[in-house]
Amino acid sequence: MAFPTHRPRRLRSTPALRRLVAETDLRPRHLVLPMFVKEGAAEPVPIASMPGVVQHTRDSLRKAAVEAVQAGVGGLMLFGVPTRYDATGSAACDPDGVLNVALRDVRAEVGDATVIMADTCLDEFTDHGHCGVLDAEGRVDNDATLAVYADMAVAQAEAGAHLLGPSGMMDGQVGVIREALDAAGHVDTGILAYTAKYTSAFYGPFRQAVESQLTGDRKTYQQDGANVRESLRELALDLEEGADAVMVKPAMAYLDVLRAVAEVADVPVAAYQVSGEYAMIEAAAANGWIERDRTVLETLTAIRRAGADIVLTYWATEVATRLATE
Ligand code: PBG
Repeated sequence: MAFPTHRPRRLRSTPALRRLVAETDLRPRHLVLPMFVKEGAAEPVPIASMPGVVQHTRDSLRKAAVEAVQAGVGGLMLFGVPTRYDATGSAACDPDGVLNVALRDVRAEVGDATVIMADTCLDEFTDHGHCGVLDAEGRVDNDATLAVYADMAVAQAEAGAHLLGPSGMMDGQVGVIREALDAAGHVDTGILAYTAKYTSAFYGPFRQAVESQLTGDRKTYQQDGANVRESLRELALDLEEGADAVMVKPAMAYLDVLRAVAEVADVPVAAYQVSGEYAMIEAAAANGWIERDRTVLETLTAIRRAGADIVLTYWATEVATRLATE
């Protein structure tokens, strides 16, 4: 009987060997926590479609930010849920708007101990729920939207965001925001560009989290899930316009896109494990159909393995805490 010449199993035979040869690691610093803050809320409001995630009050947001920092997370990404909506999403640019107030609160609370990021997009603030302003025919008007993004970006930088996350998929958004930040003296405020953002059913639970006013869809500005080459074009444009880091979103259904982007990007690459990815695992776990903690770690490791330097995940604090005690 011939013995196998090659035995890959040899390096799997003890925990220490497996640890020694692991190609991918997952540390608290890789994780970014998306957080929701609701204007005027007296108590945190649970989000039914995202068990364990809440719309924060100003106060609970500060506390959760401190917890995340203590767990060692790499950053926080803030989303606002306003009480006032209008056609241009004017609360987004108002220094007293919910998101700008929250940014100021969190920056005052944790300073530079973590990276504070802001969603630079209008969908949370418009009465029609689109990521931009509409033209006379009801279409999203790219260039009119850019002018609003410029104001919103400056307001967010002034409120204390370290990194802005333009997520609206308007053409030219990174360049316009960079120019506006520089002109206002915010040369050190960076841009984490949503480079490849696909129209996705996986955003479903998020719509509930931000009480989205949208009735239609975002197919004229977010990308078609059939495409990958298009993401490389979006990447080239974002880099040319001055993106400091880039993002692919959603994560799990787009790992091939993430890999393609990571192979050529010369800036850090982030991936966003979105609300639907979170909700699926929580729901299956609640039914006893899947082992929750192992599944969560497996997905995050897969996203890192596919090329993400940074992973946005609603489990950031929990996983960071778990990793820190390992
Ligand atoms: C738009 C935005 C969305 C998400 C993040 N930013 C929703 C959308 O594009 O419809 C989704 C995040 C998630 O599902 O977790 N501002």
